[in-house]
Amino acid sequence: MQLETVKDLDQLYTRAFQLIEEQKDNGAKTFGLATGGTMLPLYERIRNSSIDFSNCESVNLDEYVGLPKEHPESYLSFMTQQLFKEKPFKNSHLPNGEATNPEEEAKRYEELLQSLTLDFQLLGVGENGHIGFNEPGTSFDSETHVVDLTPSTRTANARFFESIDEVPEKAITMGIKSIMRAKYILLIAVGEKKRDAIKSLIDGNVTEEVPVTVLNNHSNVIVLTDLDF
Ligand code: F6R
Repeated sequence: MQLETVKDLDQLYTRAFQLIEEQKDNGAKTFGLATGGTMLPLYERIRNSSIDFSNCESVNLDEYVGLPKEHPESYLSFMTQQLFKEKPFKNSHLPNGEATNPEEEAKRYEELLQSLTLDFQLLGVGENGHIGFNEPGTSFDSETHVVDLTPSTRTANARFFESIDEVPEKAITMGIKSIMRAKYILLIAVGEKKRDAIKSLIDGNVTEEVPVTVLNNHSNVIVLTDLDF
């Protein structure tokens, strides 16, 4: 794992953009994408650049279950607003959170992922160490599945909704094993709230209790953070 601390957020996101551009220039065709506040300045950078993804595929990590696609906080809406509208990919895939059978949908999405080669995966991290919506305790062998969101994650995400009651209770997420198939992973962690999770990662622990620590088992990971350790 390569850890890069960049204190200045403007420089941090410039570096993140550079790494994505490098991947694309090196022939990456399938990009795994993430949502969340951490990604907003990065997607703004991408929108304002001349990078062209029109011959690439994108796959998103996760989607809420039961939230209408057109709801502003669905991850499809987030991605459309933040990226796809201005920077379209040849195809963009997200789990369908409105599927009548979410378990079947998770299976379909996993099959789709396995039919592609995931060249690059962008990750944020939860305060509790989750990646995607793989909460503490998730098996490192997990593939795409339906999850019950923890109170910690629902509370953290309540800032995007009118109240915590509106935050969905379930989501479909790529599993840890699905994420680990990526050839190259870029994790961005900004702000003190992420300190404990990143500390566990750089301490070299590998435990299902802190999902992000699985990245210690991957040979091609870069962690970009504004935190000093
Ligand atoms: C989003 C996702 C989550 C977020 C994490 C951090 O697709 O998979 O794991 O990356 O919850 O969210 P922010 O960036 O809002 O702190």
